[in-house]
Amino acid sequence: MRRKNLQMIALLLTGVVCLVIIMNKNDFEHDVTLKSKDVYEMLRQQNNLPSFETFQPLSSHCHRNMSAYNVTGFSTLPNHIQDFLLYRHCRSFPMLLDVPNKCGGPQNSADVFLLLVIKSSPENYDRREVLRKTWAKERLHKGVWIRRIFITGTSKTGFEKRRLNKLLKLENSENQDILQWDFNDSFFNLTLKQILFLEWMERWCPHVRFLLSGDDDIFANTFNMVEYVQGQKGNDGSKHLFTGHLIQNVGPIRQRSSKYFVPVQVQESESYPPYCGGGGFLLSGFTAKTIYKMSHSIALLPIDDVYMGMCLEKAGLKPTSHFGVRTAGLHVPSENVDKFHPCFYREIILVHRFLPHMIFVMWNEIQNPHLQCGRTNSTFKN
Ligand SMILES: *[C@@H]1O[C@H](CO)[C@@H](O)[C@H](O)[C@H]1NC(C)=O
Ligand SMILES: *[C@@H]1O[C@H](CO)[C@@H](O)[C@H](O)[C@H]1NC(C)=O
Ligand SMILES: *[C@@H]1O[C@H](CO)[C@@H](O)[C@H](O)[C@H]1NC(C)=O
Ligand SMILES: *[C@@H]1O[C@H](CO)[C@@H](O)[C@H](O)[C@H]1NC(C)=O
Ligand SMILES: *[C@@H]1O[C@H](CO)[C@@H](O)[C@H](O)[C@H]1NC(C)=O
Repeated sequence: MRRKNLQMIALLLTGVVCLVIIMNKNDFEHDVTLKSKDVYEMLRQQNNLPSFETFQPLSSHCHRNMSAYNVTGFSTLPNHIQDFLLYRHCRSFPMLLDVPNKCGGPQNSADVFLLLVIKSSPENYDRREVLRKTWAKERLHKGVWIRRIFITGTSKTGFEKRRLNKLLKLENSENQDILQWDFNDSFFNLTLKQILFLEWMERWCPHVRFLLSGDDDIFANTFNMVEYVQGQKGNDGSKHLFTGHLIQNVGPIRQRSSKYFVPVQVQESESYPPYCGGGGFLLSGFTAKTIYKMSHSIALLPIDDVYMGMCLEKAGLKPTSHFGVRTAGLHVPSENVDKFHPCFYREIILVHRFLPHMIFVMWNEIQNPHLQCGRTNSTFKN
């Protein structure tokens, strides 16, 4: 009896070793041989593991556009741009995490006054955590509801990808605030992320009044934001609003070394329409739905904020400038003044590039009832 047990254990150990080798080799992302499937099945039954199929990549419905290889100079383009051209037409990806009830169902979604839509990457756990307890906290303010949703793709491959997906799943079961699709969460896929969100919104939150679209490294004064939007007389979300840091009279950057490099193979035209910097902008539900409608007939451009501008232009709508949106950072009058002084942040709506710990500090300081701010240090000097 004992010997038989030992033999069983030896066999099992061999199996485990083989499996580890096979799994590392294939990372379960490519073809896994039938043999490893058998071994896995055996181990699965003995160890109560999930079924083999859960480790298989979800069928990707979208195939490379082979004609892209024929584009002049294709082989000389940087890898991420080649990738963009090959998959530019793909707009549908499987959803991994969903929160269909975020707005209380499509019918009740008019009760959400401000939906904070935050672009995040799977690994940015610390940023999400700090936002959840600071400016993106879900709450009732001045009689209206603020809700929060993070939008994300996937990072890495194989084990690392699955670990990060597990993290997001845990976060979502605790907070119900993550939408995740199975596409590579890269800078050049941000437009895709925005479009997938708008598609989701049309389905689950069609009557949301206003939205903030922003990065996970901004400081947003969401109290001021609600008050600003409430001050939009005659607009309950059913009219046009698109405001932020307005950028005009610029065109594609043609320098290969830039993060924003867009070669003629991606866009021929030398000019971009007016748009608002993607760090953060405010828009109405009406405008969000209009942008989505327009997007059906505009080829994706990798720079997401410019793409929003293209959709607005096509609809005959204009983005506007908001003085309190500082996606290019804050101008501080003198070197001797602390640029993190809370007085500068009481009146703004949004500032880009904040580390998580500074978001936490600032969020508490701007709410300090003893904070005394004089006219001299207001950012709204006229
Ligand atoms: C690429 O160009 C070659 C030569 O003009 C042509 O034969 C081929 O069909 C093209 N391939 C695609 C996928 O368009
Ligand atoms: C495939 O790429 C070619 C060349 O860039 C482009 O003209 C064509 O519209 C693309 N096809 C699709 C389905 O996007
Ligand atoms: C995702 O895209 C980035 C940037 O193009 C690239 O470096 C990375 O290898 C890609 N990851 C996967 C899993 O394809
Ligand atoms: C966008 O995501 C898709 C799906 O993961 C991937 O095939 C493609 O390479 C990504 N595009 C870029 C430019 O990273
Ligand atoms: C802002 O104004 C208050 C009151 O005038 C003053 O005490 C404080 O030092 C000023 N702060 C800065 C950063 O200038």
